[in-house]
Amino acid sequence: MDLSTKYLGLKLRNPVIVGSSGLTDSANKIADLEKFGAGAVVLKSIFEEEISMEYEKILNEEAPSRYKDDYLDYFDYKIKEQNLNQYIKLIIDAKKNVKIPIIASINCNSSHEWTYFAKKLEEAGADALELNIFILPSNLEKTVEDIEQTYLEIINNVKNEIKIPLAIKISWFFSNLGRAIQLLSKTGVEGIVLFNRFYSPDIDLDKMELVSTNVLSTPKELSTSLRWIGIMANRVKCDLAASTGVHDGKAVAKQLLAGADAVQLVSTLYKNGPEYLQTIIKDLESWMQEKGFDSIHDFRGKLSQEEYLNPALYERVQFMKYFGDRDKYDSTS
Ligand SMILES: Cc1cc2nc3c(=O)[nH]c(=O)nc-3n(C[C@H](O)[C@H](O)[C@H](O)COP(=O)(O)O)c2cc1C
Repeated sequence: MDLSTKYLGLKLRNPVIVGSSGLTDSANKIADLEKFGAGAVVLKSIFEEEISMEYEKILNEEAPSRYKDDYLDYFDYKIKEQNLNQYIKLIIDAKKNVKIPIIASINCNSSHEWTYFAKKLEEAGADALELNIFILPSNLEKTVEDIEQTYLEIINNVKNEIKIPLAIKISWFFSNLGRAIQLLSKTGVEGIVLFNRFYSPDIDLDKMELVSTNVLSTPKELSTSLRWIGIMANRVKCDLAASTGVHDGKAVAKQLLAGADAVQLVSTLYKNGPEYLQTIIKDLESWMQEKGFDSIHDFRGKLSQEEYLNPALYERVQFMKYFGDRDKYDSTS
């Protein structure tokens, strides 16, 4: 069975990529991920600025204790020369250790400084770069155009400096998401990752404090990225990678059917361990065998909105039948 595919112009032995996180923060962990079958890895991000928050609050959340450090890492980052040097060392060590592509990742929310970092990571030997760009549209002074302009500037500045392929990882917080994805795909980026998933706030009613919640995704969260991969496949000028809620081999198959060029996994590997990659890849192969597909090419995009006989299903958003026919459903359906 041929699982090989291309993403960002890179040849991957399979489309299953381990997404940016603490799972990819050391050369040894990356070597294990290669051993367990990963097609590529995205290194954990180097962050633009320290995100100011009280870290002890995160420590008190429901995260499994063995992953506390990763949770902290995600928020507690400050870009300094030292961090950059450590990151460069990670790329160099990882490249020595493994053959799979290493995609470096930068988290940014402004258009400054990134060219410098991007260039350094390219020089260190990264095969591609993923920009994790997030601008929460909560600034009431800014228009949609202002926000889109910031994205375009970041991409432009970085694109002008590097020759390796560039992907951007975005959220779904756009007022016209489809148009924004299309616009971003025309900037010359080689790929867009749909979608990043964020620290989410909750309120502790006893302490009357804001706390973080649901650090890891659940399989139920698959549908948002599935919908937008399905709608945007063939309507963009770059590759699309699916991220958020992909927890097993079947979910990988679904994203590929919807039109994803590659699929990124994080939460499922935190929950089940990195060795679970083997099961995910085996389950994808079993499904392909059952359906008579010899390669990814045989089925990728077969159920994208453009290819599907009933494309309106991707855009159905109201539960008319559910509420009209209430007696037929229980509260869990
Ligand atoms: C502990 C943890 C750390 C993460 N760190 C990063 C990061 O450094 N950079 C990044 O772009 N995304 C980061 N993410 C987001 C993941 O890459 C991914 O987009 C998100 O978890 C959704 O995918 P999933 O449903 O497979 O978990 C992190 C996620 C988790 C749970």
